[in-house]
This record gives sequence, C-alpha cells and structure tokens, in this order.
Amino acid sequence: MTTTTSHTLDSLTAELTGLNEVDALRKLTDLFPGQVVFSTSLGYEDQVITDLIATNNVPVRFFTLDTGRMFGETYSVWNKTLGRYAITIDTMYPDAAKVEAMMTTKGPYSMYESVENRKECCGIRKVEPLNRALAGQKIWITGIRAEQSNNRHDMPQLEWDEAHQLFKFHPLMRWTFDDVKAYVKQHNVPYNPLHDRGFVSIGCQPCTRAIQPGEDFRAGRWWWEDNSKKECGLHAK
Ligand code: ADX
Ligand code: SF4
Repeated sequence: MTTTTSHTLDSLTAELTGLNEVDALRKLTDLFPGQVVFSTSLGYEDQVITDLIATNNVPVRFFTLDTGRMFGETYSVWNKTLGRYAITIDTMYPDAAKVEAMMTTKGPYSMYESVENRKECCGIRKVEPLNRALAGQKIWITGIRAEQSNNRHDMPQLEWDEAHQLFKFHPLMRWTFDDVKAYVKQHNVPYNPLHDRGFVSIGCQPCTRAIQPGEDFRAGRWWWEDNSKKECGLHAK
C-alpha cells in the first residue's frame, strides 16, 4: 500500500507540487521529523544536494555506503565535504564475515566472472548496508536524475518504495547534467576530480570506467554486462 501513517503518494505529491528543491526538502522534514535520510555517493548530483541541505540547514540525516572498493578520489572529496560543511555523514559498512567469506572463496574480482557473482558482491557491499540505513525511516532522498538512464527516464520526483516501505524523493529528477555542472561551478561545491576525466556516474573502482563523448551516461558502469542487468539493487523495484 502506497502510504505511511496518514500520507499517501497522491497527498504527499500534492503537498510538494510547486515547491523548489529546498522548500520541498524542508516540507518533508516538517512532516517526518527525524525520519528523512539522504544517501550520498559523493558524486556530482549528491554534492549539489549536500550543498542545498547544508547551506539551508535542513534537518536531514546523511549516510554513505562505503563498499570498501571506492576510488581514492571519492575519499578525498568526502573529506573535503566534511571540511566544508557542518555535517556528519553516517558511514555504513558491509558485514565483515560476509566480505571475508566472499573474498576468501572467490578473490577480489569475482564480479567480472558472472552476473550472479556481481550481484552477490553488490548485495553484500551495498544492498544489505542500505537496508540497515533505511530501517525505520520514512523519506529516502537520492541524487537520481531522469536523464541518467532509460530505467530512470519516467520516474516521478516522489515515489513509493514498497521494498523499504518509505517514500523516495529525488530532488534533482528533472535537472540536466549541465544544470548540475553549472550549480557546482557557481557555488564552488567540492566535487570528485574523476568527473573531469570522463567519469559521469561514479561507483566502485572495479565497476566504473570513464565514458566517451556521446556514450550513454551509464555506459561506464558494469560495462561488461548487458543493459537490462545494469542496476546494482540499490534502486531496483
Ligand atoms: S547505482 O544504483 O547505480 O549504484 P548511482 O550511482 O546511479 O546508483 O546513484 C544514484 C543514487 O544512489 C545516488 O544519488 C545516491 O543517492 C545513491 N547511492 C549510490 N551509491 C551510493 C553509495 N555508495 N552510498 C550512498 N548512496 C549511494
Ligand atoms: Fe562489488 Fe562492483 Fe557492486 Fe561495488 S559495484 S559492490 S565492487 S560488484
């Protein structure tokens, strides 16, 4: 059922209609105090949202999923972000015993061997920690944009997430990549230097590469798999 306590998807969508990103975020924190979380991967879009939340003092809790396989550049921008804004980023780690068992039996690059292995790694390193981070929350904010992939093209800004029993809010859903870049420049927001080297969407190091001009935004993620499989389970329906 698309509802949490007294709110339905339709009623909440109506409450947010016409509000700018910051007012919408503020409205959500008024309606669900202490139960609004933002998942940041420290990528371009997430840095814009971080800036919007932090500079406007919107009471949202931040968290990141440290998979253990991130780029050094991602840790650098994470550290810069903590220096720039008065925020805390709760950090979620995978279950150590599960990572130990997977690495011991399959080694560090099992994800290239089969879709099952790749999904096992994403399940252990991302999905299970995400589920822990979202437990008991009512609103999950993400940096998803419609332009990023076919799967995301028709997504609404607010949706009901049946699996996690909460609403997902994507403040930048209708922003273009140029809008994001312009905001970062104008507000001097710290960003991952890999974005200047052809990396558009940045995830784990073994599973992310730069893209060529004209390639699809997500062509650099899990590039060895066919398009229908290219979601890691964080945003799967
Ligand atoms: S993914 O599903 O392919 O990994 P993508 O990189 O496009 O996701 O990011 C979409 C949104 O998912 C981000 O804006 C962010 O909200 C969330 N996200 C992705 N990776 C992480 C991460 N490691 N930690 C926290 N949030 C993440
Ligand atoms: Fe593992 Fe790659 Fe998934 Fe990261 S993106 S959790 S390294 S399979």
